[in-house]
Amino acid sequence: MADNKHIMINKNLIEAAKIARLAAYAPYSKFMVGAAVQSKGGQIFSGCNVENISLGLTICAERSAIAAAITAGVKDLISVAVVTDSIKPALPCGACRQVMAEFNPNMRIVATTTGGKSEEFELSVLLPKPTQGILERDRDV
Ligand code: THU
Repeated sequence: MADNKHIMINKNLIEAAKIARLAAYAPYSKFMVGAAVQSKGGQIFSGCNVENISLGLTICAERSAIAAAITAGVKDLISVAVVTDSIKPALPCGACRQVMAEFNPNMRIVATTTGGKSEEFELSVLLPKPTQGILERDRDV
C-alpha cells in the first residue's frame, strides 16, 4: 500500500514535468527539459529550461520549478522529477543539485525519459556535503 502511494506520487510528479517540458524554450540546444517539485504537503510546481543567446545565462528546468515553488511560499520540497527525451534518464546538473540542496539535501530525484525509462536517486548521494564550511569562519557546525 505504502509502495502504491509512492508510485502514484511519482506518476503525478512525472506527468507535471512532462507537461512543463512542452513549454521549454530551447532554440539553441533543442534539448527540451521539464521538471516538477513536490512539497511535503503534496503541492506540485513545475518548470522548464529557458535558454538564452548568451548561453551561460540558461536556466535549467529544475531551477525554474524550484523558483516557482519558492515564489508560492513553499519550501519543504521532498522530491523532484525531471523529464527529457534522451536515451538514458538525464540527471540534474551540478548547479541544480546545489540549488536543490538549499531546500532539502536528501531530496528524492526521479529522472524519466519520454520513452518511459526511469531512475531514482537521493540528492545526498549525487551531491554529498553541499554546505560544509561555506560562510562559516568562526563556527564549527
Ligand atoms: N538542462 C536542464 O534544464 N536540466 C538538466 O537536468 C540538464 C540540462 C537544460 C539546460 C540547457 O537548456 C539544455 O538542457 C542543454 O544542456
